[in-house]
Amino acid sequence: MIDLSTNYLGLALRSPIVASASPLWKEIENLARLEAAGAGAVVLHSLFEEQIMMDSFWFNGFLNQGSDSFPEAMSYFPDEKSYQIDPRGYLKHIESARKKLTIPVIASLNGVSTGGWIRYAREIESAGADALELTIYFLPASMQATAHDIEQSYCELVRDIKNQLRIPIAVKLSPYFTAMANFCRQLDLAGVDALVLFNRFYQPDFDLETREVVQNLYLSSSDELRLRLHWVALLSPYVRPQLAITGGVHTAEDVVKGIMAGAQVVMMTSALIKRGIDYVGLVESDLVTWLEAHEYKSIGELRGAMNSASVSNPTALTRANYLKVMNSFMPKAI
Ligand SMILES: Cc1cc2nc3c(=O)[nH]c(=O)nc-3n(C[C@H](O)[C@H](O)[C@H](O)COP(=O)(O)O)c2cc1C
Repeated sequence: MIDLSTNYLGLALRSPIVASASPLWKEIENLARLEAAGAGAVVLHSLFEEQIMMDSFWFNGFLNQGSDSFPEAMSYFPDEKSYQIDPRGYLKHIESARKKLTIPVIASLNGVSTGGWIRYAREIESAGADALELTIYFLPASMQATAHDIEQSYCELVRDIKNQLRIPIAVKLSPYFTAMANFCRQLDLAGVDALVLFNRFYQPDFDLETREVVQNLYLSSSDELRLRLHWVALLSPYVRPQLAITGGVHTAEDVVKGIMAGAQVVMMTSALIKRGIDYVGLVESDLVTWLEAHEYKSIGELRGAMNSASVSNPTALTRANYLKVMNSFMPKAI
């Protein structure tokens, strides 16, 4: 009997395979299927800062009082019908999910500014969430904002939210930080309990015929795992917060790699959208088969086995190996 049990954010998980935030989890029946398939925990779809802000516009009747006085703010929001504004519905959903499931339910807040919207963190806790994942989605396109300014604003947001909560908090990051290791240390000091590496930034394309920016979302493949493995392997021996991998986890081998890099848990979204919710069960049984074939008794024995403090050739994770890799590749002339 292989022991897959894992601790994440102070919660006992039966497996290190966690479902990451996506609209799949808006349906309670999908959540029940996910639990039955064997997932260790679920991160619910996000409640967005914009949804909360927009709800309070409507709630406070600002629109009826002449939206012209807020032209800039209003252009930021889609119209009411095309956008589901229902933060209170989100809180009810947490309550229903908590009642229905035995696995931990991690709620997700997605935003960027420290403002009134963060009081929702407390409401999320009261609704019964076991933990909160905070996704900070910010595109630093301003010519004025420095890397230091941006990092400090993330830390301030984390501190403000952390101060309101008793439940643990994870922060989901993008890979685009100048000094990733130092920034993770700062987030640690700000109070995060786990870091989720890495969010996939939405990348627009161009339609050359219509000359429009095309906003479509594409799903990941296992290729995207490498960036996450690299950073988790580098950081895991040195950072206190637990590390989770999101991005490019599609197979049992991906799970093994992620845990060996030092991740506490690995998360899946694209694979479940492509192959169905029950696919979690297949990945888990493949994982058990792999562990048995390699004579492991628990998932814990794997953890960190290939991080930067454990691998036999740590320079393979740093620039020292860059020249060797480049030189080892000899393209064939056509
Ligand atoms: C359709 C879709 C919706 C998503 N919605 C959210 C969301 O609400 N909040 C969030 O933090 N991440 C969201 N994500 C990102 C996923 O949680 C995940 O981090 C990302 O897709 C990378 O993992 P993957 O390679 O397993 O897909 C979404 C992804 C997809 C594909």
